[in-house]
Amino acid sequence: ESLLWGHTMGRELIVFDSIDSTNTYGKNNADHLMDGTIILSEEQLAGRGRRGKDWSSPKGTGIWMSMVLKPDIPPTEGVKTTQIAAAAVCKAIRDLTGLDALIKWPNDIVVNGRKVCGILTEMAGQLNKIDYIVVGIGINVNNTEFPEGISAVATSLQIEYGKKIDRKELIVRIIKNFEALYHSYIENLNLTEVVAIVRDYSAVIGKEIKVIHGTSERIVTVHDIDEEGFLIVESGDGKREVIFSGEVSIRGK
Ligand code: BTN
Repeated sequence: ESLLWGHTMGRELIVFDSIDSTNTYGKNNADHLMDGTIILSEEQLAGRGRRGKDWSSPKGTGIWMSMVLKPDIPPTEGVKTTQIAAAAVCKAIRDLTGLDALIKWPNDIVVNGRKVCGILTEMAGQLNKIDYIVVGIGINVNNTEFPEGISAVATSLQIEYGKKIDRKELIVRIIKNFEALYHSYIENLNLTEVVAIVRDYSAVIGKEIKVIHGTSERIVTVHDIDEEGFLIVESGDGKREVIFSGEVSIRGK
């Protein structure tokens, strides 16, 4: 019904001062949360990253946000919401700050080679139906310092931009971008606009990357991102293959 008013995202907005994790809250309450619900918290006490890592989420510094989605699309399509979010965030950062933000496929946004944003997408459902997707977005906005373990690889928008950034303004831009890209996607499963952004602002095309699958690692060169948002890579012998997901890290970084 809210589609008639032209927006789904944020029609329900839940804001916490403090919570363990906005993603965990979204998952635990997904049954009774509307499609498009946005959960924000000033701080997270147990922010989660990918691969079981912690996500540092100090009070008032960043954007710690989760979006609950209940699209009627095949579960295999669900993973693409990560790319939609990455495109929405990257474009919002570029438009607001002019910083040269790049997407490190598929989940991270980097500025000057350091990470400013990570995305954790969690999905539940059956073989042919998505129950819910929770897209968690963590953005280091006005952080001035980081825990020892990540200080070499993390940065914030304030550090790179030189000035404090209005978190509200950035959130609004992200939601607007996401809304537009998400609708054009779920209505006809067309990812063209998203892929154009992910390609234009790619941190990985032409680069050597390390692909991590479980415990195995190998080095490949990224040739392109295809129209479905997947990575086309070339191994040493010139053989091309498609990488659907998994962990990639830029070599030497
Ligand atoms: C990563 O890069 O490993 C993903 C980080 C995702 C962090 C966000 S912050 C909001 C949401 N809640 C969480 O607990 N994690 C995500």
